[in-house]
Amino acid sequence: MDHHPRIASARAAKITILPTAEEASQFVAERLVTLVQANPTCRLGLATGQTPRRVYAKLVAAAQDEKVSFAKVETINLDEYCGLEQSHPDSFAAYMHRELFSGASFDTSKINLIDGAAKDETAEAARYAALVRSRPVDLQLLGIGTNGHIGFNEPGSPVTSRVRIVELSPETLVVNQQTLLQLDRVPTRAITMGIADIIDAREIVVLATGAAKAEAIRKSLSGQLGEACPASLLQIHGNVHWVLDKGAAQLQ
Ligand code: F6R
Repeated sequence: MDHHPRIASARAAKITILPTAEEASQFVAERLVTLVQANPTCRLGLATGQTPRRVYAKLVAAAQDEKVSFAKVETINLDEYCGLEQSHPDSFAAYMHRELFSGASFDTSKINLIDGAAKDETAEAARYAALVRSRPVDLQLLGIGTNGHIGFNEPGSPVTSRVRIVELSPETLVVNQQTLLQLDRVPTRAITMGIADIIDAREIVVLATGAAKAEAIRKSLSGQLGEACPASLLQIHGNVHWVLDKGAAQLQ
């Protein structure tokens, strides 16, 4: 059910600013651990990228110290590059196994990832769209692009958007170029959950660290909502927690 495209109903965001990326990541990791301890069968929406790597390392440590078990947790990932096998080191699937799933003993049967190498990309997007619609997440973890994207919902993405194939913006191609492990160039297309899928989450936690994110954070929290800064559309959700380090918060 679409219950959110009423931009008029913007609500005050919850914002936590911590001195360092390490402390911001610790804060987010603790929220996730607390949720899983309270609800071991919860469903988590997960992001990739540089920002959540520290969080995932802390979750792996917590699992290995037996403070929490992820064995019954279901996961749904936000997005994936088109054209990459899940085993390719630059795929988001490989990232997730490397950074989190293997070390924290997730049950592979409860992990939902997009197959970026599917021969029929349209069918793969439709499969994932149906899966996401039938499985709203308890907590969605997000990063934010320097252009305000969430998932691969680039500027101009409608608030009603659902899982689909998208073209990455020139800015995203440049930024993500620095993160490649093996590829020479960033794939230009991706499959992403839409804004409406993200907003279906019961709780959303956005982690942003570093001064490069400050302008996107300023636009997201300015009170203006619009497709030009997709993360600003999160203001229509009643339970979003922005966790920022000093750098990301410097224009607040
Ligand atoms: C990743 C994703 C992206 C990133 C964003 C920030 O799954 O959906 O929206 O969260 O590009 O990336 P980093 O954390 O690398 O700055």
